[in-house]
Amino acid sequence: MENKTRMKNKYKKPTTLNCYAGSRYRFSLMVCSFIGCVLLFHVYFLNQSQHSQHAVMQMNSDHPYYRELVEVEDDGIKIPPPRKRSPRAIKRKPKRPTTLIEEFLDESSQLRYIFFPGQKTAIDPLNDAGNESLYYHPGRIWLDTDGNPIQAHGGGILYDDRSRTYYWYGEYKDGPTYYAHKKAAARVDIIGVGCYSSKDLWTWKNEGIVLAAEEANETHDLHTSNVLERPKVIYNKNTNKYVMWMHIDDANYTKASVGIAISNSPTGPFDYIRSTRPHGFESRDMTIFKDDDDVAYLVYSSEDNSELHIGPLTQDYLDVTNVMRRILVGQHREAPALFKHEGTYYMITSGCTGWAPNEALAHAAESVMGPWETMGNPCVGGNKVFRLATFFAQSTFVLPLHGFPGVFIFMADRWNPADLRDSRYVWLPLLVGGPVDRPLDYSFGFPLWPRVSIYWHKRWKLPYKWSGKN
Ligand SMILES: *[C@@H]1O[C@H](CO)[C@@H](O)[C@H](O)[C@H]1NC(C)=O
Ligand SMILES: *[C@@H]1O[C@H](CO)[C@@H](O)[C@H](O)[C@H]1NC(C)=O
Ligand SMILES: *[C@@H]1O[C@H](CO)[C@@H](O)[C@H](O)[C@H]1NC(C)=O
Repeated sequence: MENKTRMKNKYKKPTTLNCYAGSRYRFSLMVCSFIGCVLLFHVYFLNQSQHSQHAVMQMNSDHPYYRELVEVEDDGIKIPPPRKRSPRAIKRKPKRPTTLIEEFLDESSQLRYIFFPGQKTAIDPLNDAGNESLYYHPGRIWLDTDGNPIQAHGGGILYDDRSRTYYWYGEYKDGPTYYAHKKAAARVDIIGVGCYSSKDLWTWKNEGIVLAAEEANETHDLHTSNVLERPKVIYNKNTNKYVMWMHIDDANYTKASVGIAISNSPTGPFDYIRSTRPHGFESRDMTIFKDDDDVAYLVYSSEDNSELHIGPLTQDYLDVTNVMRRILVGQHREAPALFKHEGTYYMITSGCTGWAPNEALAHAAESVMGPWETMGNPCVGGNKVFRLATFFAQSTFVLPLHGFPGVFIFMADRWNPADLRDSRYVWLPLLVGGPVDRPLDYSFGFPLWPRVSIYWHKRWKLPYKWSGKN
């Protein structure tokens, strides 16, 4: 898998042009020279844009806050040496977890406290005064202003201009984890979509369940026995409505549809409209992205998760149009999170390994409809296993940090399949064009796109006196 990924990291345009073609030699020569000119131009232009990118970063990297964010932080996790086991124990359970991923998935691991720190270390914004104030601690329990763990998994954040408030929507999973049948994945019944509000992105007030499960009607999409994942909300200026899109499925993930709901207020209640298979295709992990020109797009994993599809929504955001492009075909990516910086579109995705963590990839495109190119693994710091497992988390959303161009908050879920309600949030700084940790392998010897980097930090915070968007 690593080999495959490394191949994907390479910029795949052909470097040798085989134009030698017998009788058409002269014509080919002309074509070759023309292509050569175009390539030279391309290289020149790329160098130019790289320089200007560099200039911006030089200005920015003087900022002490940038230096803090891009500091590469290791995480010296050592796997304890295997204990001597009795032959009987070996017979009973022959395989001991040996890799960090296996330790992560092993409920009784001695390293459990590293991945899922206990209640004692919970982040409690109302009581965490002093030096811990405003610090994110990826992986720790995060309490809302009532002192309860935040329930907003697979979530996304909407900044509401009207109330100058951030709203965090996600799966409210505070119920028992169980298996519907032997071959099924771990699940929690649908409870609904949780919503939390904040001005500082650290202190979150529970606004309640804004779209609730349907308990009685078994044929309803939102019946507790079904699946509701990755809810995302955007605001429609024309209709003054808040529109929610989400993944709707049955317990076996065969329905593979998107659901749409609508509300007059960011805090709901949202009215569920319907589910659909967009463009007639399966849709599982998905997200929506609203561009600067207010055109919104749906991105979803399709064709057995082997590719992503992208297409614009109608003006009222309540449906897709009939325009659709297949992207990252054959790459088997899910959990897409889109963002934009200086006119370029970026996306972080994960591989498809159920609740288990895997390697994130960053992708870039000049047009949101593609073509999209895969750049490589954006994770920096931690240790190698951390980087290959996206810090033991899966992407869900990327939030621009207002006032700090090129700085984003990467939001991810550290799923706990043994007890899904206790899944954790991993928020880390994501920088576009930040310093590289190691040179990437590109055909032309320089990167085509500005580098996207997600920096591991045990603790980090937003800039001093950052107080939301004004
Ligand atoms: C914060 O302050 C406490 C108590 O003064 C101290 O024990 C702790 O080490 C400090 N933490 C950091 C990260 O400086
Ligand atoms: C149950 O849900 C289905 C699908 O949404 C709907 O068509 C039907 O009218 C509902 N039945 C009741 C009794 O509400
Ligand atoms: C899911 O699959 C199992 C086993 O194949 C089957 O018994 C069950 O009825 C299915 N459930 C749904 C909701 O399709």
